[in-house]
Amino acid sequence: MIKKHINNVSPGMVLGKPIYGENYEVLLKKGVELTQGYIDRLKARGYACLYIEDKETEDIVINDPISDKIRLMATKDVLKTYKVTQSAIADIEADTSESIMRSINTPKVKRTFQESQAFKQLVEDIDSFLDEIMGQDILSGLNSIKTVDNYTFEHSIDAAIISLIIAKRLYFDKKKLKQIAIGEFLHDIGKIFIDVKLLNKPGKLTNEEFAMVKQHTSFGYELLKDIDAIGYVSAHIPYQHHERQDGKGYPRGLLGSNKLDKGEITYVEHDKMIMGAEVAAIADVYDACISDRPYRAGLPPDTVYELIKNGAGTQFNEEIVRYFLGVMPKYPAGSEIKVIHGIYKGFVGVVASVEISQMTRPRVKLLYDDKQNKIKPIEIDLSRDASFEIQCI
Ligand SMILES: [Fe+2]
Ligand SMILES: [Fe+2]
Repeated sequence: MIKKHINNVSPGMVLGKPIYGENYEVLLKKGVELTQGYIDRLKARGYACLYIEDKETEDIVINDPISDKIRLMATKDVLKTYKVTQSAIADIEADTSESIMRSINTPKVKRTFQESQAFKQLVEDIDSFLDEIMGQDILSGLNSIKTVDNYTFEHSIDAAIISLIIAKRLYFDKKKLKQIAIGEFLHDIGKIFIDVKLLNKPGKLTNEEFAMVKQHTSFGYELLKDIDAIGYVSAHIPYQHHERQDGKGYPRGLLGSNKLDKGEITYVEHDKMIMGAEVAAIADVYDACISDRPYRAGLPPDTVYELIKNGAGTQFNEEIVRYFLGVMPKYPAGSEIKVIHGIYKGFVGVVASVEISQMTRPRVKLLYDDKQNKIKPIEIDLSRDASFEIQCI
């Protein structure tokens, strides 16, 4: 299987993963042969990349960190929780930050959220989500297909997966992992109180608009803070996921410790970010940058990997970044790559597999020469040949 930009997908190619619609109905099944009509309609819906199954890459397995069944279950839980809470604010007229805060604190909004079947189901389903994640040591196949309709929900699930795989390495017990999962699933729930036109506005936001978007952190916290089933950590992940180690984040400009206390999710110092949020901050940026947004493909995984690495110490907790780099391959399996140094310079292919001991030096399969001619596939193990350098395309 290979992940291809939709502009490089042509009729006759076979879909490697199913495509879901707005309410998670199956639009196209895995194994469907794509026609020009399908490709055009997917483009019109804003799909930037597709997973394609073909002869050359049939031996390449993109392992999902969770099964389709569990992903679908969790995504639907998040979607329903958002929608039911949104319904409670439908008739509330509030456009300033203060009036939105007041309306979040009305019993109607709080009760609708807390007593909804959707939220109860979300909490109940977390165990089976955790059971699957706990079997994973390496993050791959994470690049879920996101569209304008499902972005926030898929992003919440992917951010949860990244956080939990890091957190597992940090020896958090199951209770703490569950707190992280709830916090991550709901980390952007504050966005439901912000005008969707503003959230999806193409181009640059004005200062006032950006100030409003930033409030999603405080709005989310306000909704969750005194709900028993949520608890301190799960409410502070939405509140703190945009804070930075150097204090230049928002909403409160908290500092980070750049240290790690294995197994501890919060710190004694109350003016610092909690560790759960420090993990969430990394997961949030990684997934937001790598994700395809409507009409633009996500940044290449190696670029985002470097971005996180370079943010260590200032933006992100440097100790946690080390753990992140230990579970996140620089070039995930199934990514399209180009050789930029070595005898096959200019050749194009795909990442075939990644070993946990060699997170930056995968095995690749070259499929095209430097003139874009199809070639008999050449396999190279980068961990055995230091002269090769590759780049995701
Ligand atoms: Fe956010
Ligand atoms: Fe986010």
